[in-house]
Amino acid sequence: MASSIPLNPLHISTLISLLLLLALVLPLGSSKKVDIRTVLTYHKGPLLTGDLNLTILWYGRFGRVQKSTIRNFIRSLNHNGNFNLEPRVSTWWKTIESYQSIKSSRHHKNPSIRVQVVKQMTDNSYSVGKILTQNSIPGLVQKAKSGSVAVIFTARDVSVQGLCTGKCSQHGIMGKGSLHQLYIMVGNPESECPGECGWPFHKADQGPQSLPLQPPNGDIGADAMVIGFATALAGTVTNPYKNGYFQGPKTNPLEAVSACPGMFGSGAFPGYAGKVHVDPHDGGCFNAHGVNGKKFLLPAVWNPKTSACWTTM
Ligand SMILES: *[C@@H]1O[C@H](CO)[C@@H](O)[C@H](O)[C@H]1NC(C)=O
Repeated sequence: MASSIPLNPLHISTLISLLLLLALVLPLGSSKKVDIRTVLTYHKGPLLTGDLNLTILWYGRFGRVQKSTIRNFIRSLNHNGNFNLEPRVSTWWKTIESYQSIKSSRHHKNPSIRVQVVKQMTDNSYSVGKILTQNSIPGLVQKAKSGSVAVIFTARDVSVQGLCTGKCSQHGIMGKGSLHQLYIMVGNPESECPGECGWPFHKADQGPQSLPLQPPNGDIGADAMVIGFATALAGTVTNPYKNGYFQGPKTNPLEAVSACPGMFGSGAFPGYAGKVHVDPHDGGCFNAHGVNGKKFLLPAVWNPKTSACWTTM
């Protein structure tokens, strides 16, 4: 009797395993219906407003296309222009600007944040080496024009401590009080970590796979740096002093763009970037038009009005 089917220990353990397996599988299978929304909390600190001046440091050797792609993206932010092409880079930037009016409900119109490059420097000789650590940053950012945000772009053969491992760009602050210096650091992932920071233009190292998209400016490094820079710039404006909009730990927060990872168009899910346009001439994938006929693929932004991730299309 002890060996009758329902009491057989082997069967019981199989049954338990099956139940456990079901318990594991079922929530995953139904996860599409569960809308787990990240909510960024406002921590009452200042946001950046008004003019946003940038000093760019090109660290290492860059190609002409790489520099012009990034400069055209910056020029596109405030370009509402007389062209009928939608969607636009400036629409993306307006979502970042809209954080101001949520903070102070007295602003009905979002004041614009005008971004301009006030100084550019080039370091072709890799003056502090090809491996940058957090200690390299003060020396690099000190030549920034006063009152500007220092933006360091590193060439493809430079490794940056802290990038390529879950993060493709970073922003922060050096010094204190009136002498403080805001900075942004963006790495070119083309040879350092294309599977981590080159997605969706390169096969991902991990997770679900999809066919890589053609970069809109024909350069994986430049088009990935636009995404990394857009992410850090959005974080700089909405959480410049680590007490603006963020969720999670202060040292590694989710911010305006990083709260919406891996999304570029509607219908995105892990491994699929979402609906984007494909240029019929060169196959480049994009979701935003900019100046000089340029096109860009811009990441989703957490929209403070709806508390949801928003994409340009
Ligand atoms: C930005 O640069 C312009 C000149 O290009 C200057 O007039 C303005 O004061 C600067 N803004 C800040 C915040 O430094």
